[in-house]
Amino acid sequence: MLQKIVRVFHLGTKKPGAGLAVHCDAIESNRQEFFHDIIECLIAALEAKDSYTCGHSSRVADISLDLAIALDLKGADLENVHIAAHLHDIGKMGVSENILNKPGKLLFHEWAQIQAHPAIGYNVLRKSRLLHKIATIVLYHHERWDGTGYPEGVQGNQIPLGSRIIAVADAVDAMTTYRPYREPLSWRDCLQELQINKEKQFDPLVVEAALELWQKWAGSRHYQETPCVMEETIKSCS
Ligand SMILES: [Fe+2]
Ligand SMILES: [Fe+2]
Repeated sequence: MLQKIVRVFHLGTKKPGAGLAVHCDAIESNRQEFFHDIIECLIAALEAKDSYTCGHSSRVADISLDLAIALDLKGADLENVHIAAHLHDIGKMGVSENILNKPGKLLFHEWAQIQAHPAIGYNVLRKSRLLHKIATIVLYHHERWDGTGYPEGVQGNQIPLGSRIIAVADAVDAMTTYRPYREPLSWRDCLQELQINKEKQFDPLVVEAALELWQKWAGSRHYQETPCVMEETIKSCS
């Protein structure tokens, strides 16, 4: 739509002034920022229900962006991976909170509900034609390089690159943060896990890119302490 408006402006003025071009660029970048921020707010609302996964999607999005840049993705491909990473667990909206927060072992039917979240996310996102590529990346974010993942058990390069990137970013964040059933792993132990699971769970190229970025992530305060909306609100009210 915006592109159409810009084209009409250009047709109407034989030589568009530099001022107009700058103005249109500003609108476009504001629109992208707005779109990105709406998504962050939506996911923060989802994560506010669960203190253990607070900030998870935002950290996965940052890690995925670093990986995608390191793997030379650009333009719309890069932006799609970043937005898909923010949205990767949106399908958990359709999973019961009791199951999501259950500290013990899951029963068979509970595990089946958890495994449905990529497909639920896909079905939500594909309602928008513009989000179709993002929906596909979300659908495959729990597939594994060796074909033992879900929902379809596809393997290797059959899995979209964006999904393979998010799979690594998701695992890194999950391992290095607290869960009700275990303490966080040290960044050193997490690195070891990643290497053990290279070519089993993870795309070896994405793991190689993660190794290059390891010092940056391990040293970043952003990944050590990300307060969630709920914690921030409680602090500011007390
Ligand atoms: Fe997930
Ligand atoms: Fe996740």
